[in-house]
Amino acid sequence: MPAMDAARPSLPDPAFWAGRRVLVTGHTGFKGAWLSLWLAELGATVTGFSDGVPTTPSLHALARLDELVDGRTGDVRDAVRVAEAVAQARPEVVLHLAAQPMVRRSFAEPVATYATNIMGTVHVLDAIRRAPGDVRVVIVVTSDKCYDNREWPWGYREDEPLGGHDPYSSSKGAAEIVTAAYRASYFDAGDAPAVATARAGNVIGGGDWGADRLLPDVFRAALAGTPIAVRNPDAIRPWQHVLNPLSGYLRLAERAWEDRAAARAFNFGPADEDARAVGWIVERVGELWDGDLRWEVDPGPHPHEAHWLKLDSSLARAQLGWRPAWDLADGLAAAVDWFRAHRDGDDARSVTRAQIAAFCAGPFGA
Ligand SMILES: NC(=O)c1ccc[n+]([C@@H]2O[C@H](COP(=O)([O-])OP(=O)(O)OC[C@H]3O[C@@H](n4cnc5c(N)ncnc54)[C@H](O)[C@@H]3O)[C@@H](O)[C@H]2O)c1
Repeated sequence: MPAMDAARPSLPDPAFWAGRRVLVTGHTGFKGAWLSLWLAELGATVTGFSDGVPTTPSLHALARLDELVDGRTGDVRDAVRVAEAVAQARPEVVLHLAAQPMVRRSFAEPVATYATNIMGTVHVLDAIRRAPGDVRVVIVVTSDKCYDNREWPWGYREDEPLGGHDPYSSSKGAAEIVTAAYRASYFDAGDAPAVATARAGNVIGGGDWGADRLLPDVFRAALAGTPIAVRNPDAIRPWQHVLNPLSGYLRLAERAWEDRAAARAFNFGPADEDARAVGWIVERVGELWDGDLRWEVDPGPHPHEAHWLKLDSSLARAQLGWRPAWDLADGLAAAVDWFRAHRDGDDARSVTRAQIAAFCAGPFGA
């Protein structure tokens, strides 16, 4: 893993993370598994907290992350269990990712979604409020869907109104409001933890088996040799590889550690040209995949989903020096390579570690 490079400031600084005690909630999920493995590579002491493993298969299980992470099982809706986990882990940095992250499931389970995404965030912040211990930085991961979506072609900026049409999106808008209120009410003093939020767009990468997500659906179909039913092929999304926003979360934590004034909301979105239609993504994966990949439009009916959604990440660029190190072409190539290696029986931890090292080295396949 290279040391931080002034020319590529998006990369986390190994000197900061080595030996650092980090609590990752949602460590068994798609993003949490990549993040835990990356933190372990950086030399951090990682404790995880989640309610189990959300999918089978999962990157967490395939990469045997329970060997690298001290995993605790519990529900973020259980305030006592959350407080115990914080007290036992004695973290210096908390990365809160645990959530019910699916829009469609949120329509079926609004109460559980709000309880997990809003009260789960309250419980994490309140455990830290009541017993901050060594906690110095908290990053709450929300979503690009936290904005009041106007269906306009411009990217949303951090100071634009929050909202959310569906239970998931509005739960993430609410998690933003809760976090801002905790920051203003309890974490304002100079020695209190610095509390920031991170908003990122549709994330792709190896090891995602989430239900109702485009790339997992595509790879499930590719591996099974069945056609993919695509909802909303014209919908535009800001696609990016999972390592891009994760590098942003880590940079934000480093920056907030040295300057608590930097702790606020940040967007971590891809470049404008990487906001692409769903149909375009499926076509491109079909070109990269070395097997048959057919798709058809699923006529629905479908629950409401935003048609246009782009983020403006100028603030992260200006204040954190962050930029997406991999563009969409790199990200798609890496995701296809990962699932091809999985199909061919390669070791998931080795493949994932190699992709993290490649991300730190430059453009994919360079
Ligand atoms: N994947 C994306 O495209 C994307 C985009 C924007 C934001 N996000 C956000 O990033 C975070 C991680 O998403 P992901 O894609 O890794 O999701 P995931 O479903 O793969 O993982 C979710 C994690 O949260 C845990 N969890 C869920 N409910 C819980 C509960 N009640 N108590 C304790 N743990 C619970 C799961 O066990 C799992 O570890 C979420 O906050 C999500 O909203 C994801």
